Amino acid sequence: MMPARARLEQYADELRSRGSDDPAILASLCEVYWQLGRQPESVETYRSFLRHEAPAPDPDFDRIYVAGLLATGTSPTPTRRRARFIHLVELLRRTRDVPGAVVECGCFQGLSSFVMCSYLKQWAPGFDGSGYHVFDSFEGLSEPTLDDDIPETWDNAANLRLMSYAGNFAASLEQVRKNLAAFPRISFHKGWIPLCFAHLPEARYRFVHVDVDLYDPTLDAFNYFYPRLSAKGIIASDDYTWPGARTAIDDFCAERGITFDVTAHGQAVLVK
Ligand SMILES: C[S@@+](CC[C@H](N)C(=O)[O-])C[C@H]1O[C@@H](n2cnc3c(N)ncnc32)[C@H](O)[C@@H]1O
Repeated sequence: MMPARARLEQYADELRSRGSDDPAILASLCEVYWQLGRQPESVETYRSFLRHEAPAPDPDFDRIYVAGLLATGTSPTPTRRRARFIHLVELLRRTRDVPGAVVECGCFQGLSSFVMCSYLKQWAPGFDGSGYHVFDSFEGLSEPTLDDDIPETWDNAANLRLMSYAGNFAASLEQVRKNLAAFPRISFHKGWIPLCFAHLPEARYRFVHVDVDLYDPTLDAFNYFYPRLSAKGIIASDDYTWPGARTAIDDFCAERGITFDVTAHGQAVLVK
């Protein structure tokens, strides 16, 4: 039997020979190059893919996003991530004049933080990471519980099941610091949510991005940050498509009579 790598190389040849003008083929080629460790070709193919996508509202977005992929060693696929991040930036933009710090709970290799910090720098050229906080175990997801069970009928169930295990999405603090070196004053808080909130000084926050996928840490992050959010501040979860995170947000909001929006990209958004 042909070794896996040779099969992938053969598949890349086949995709290339099928032409460069079909976005579905370009997306597959991106993924195959990435799996082969051919990062520059993957990102170059992604640039071609982008020509088929609706332009971002901000003409700088794709430059920043691609710089983030390269800085954090993140695959361009899944390609639907771009639309979510465009929206994330628009949410962050809405809090530009709100007082308080900016937070991300769950950074993995730092891509979403790279994009948000790049915009904070664009809006305030002296921005060096001060007032930006990252909370993460740097050991990946915590243990899923019964609240994280993924029903058979759930949209994308098979994929979510593959991703939903303790330790997935682990990147070391040392690596993430390097990936985000352009913003040297970011405050990194290593530890499990909610333990890593225990000794924080009281502070106000204007924007909190929660991307920890599971029920417990999502609920814990909302419990901690929502009361500390400034008026007109936003807490947004990336994960309304994950059963555990969705139930946590539903439970949190139902208990307090809070309403929230869900974006077309599966983000839940609470404005205070
Ligand atoms: C999906 S990844 C985040 C992706 C990142 N926001 C991005 O878009 O580039 C989920 C992250 O949540 C972190 N995480 C999950 N459960 C956690 C917990 N209980 N405490 C701290 N971090 C946790 C993982 O370590 C991982 O970095």
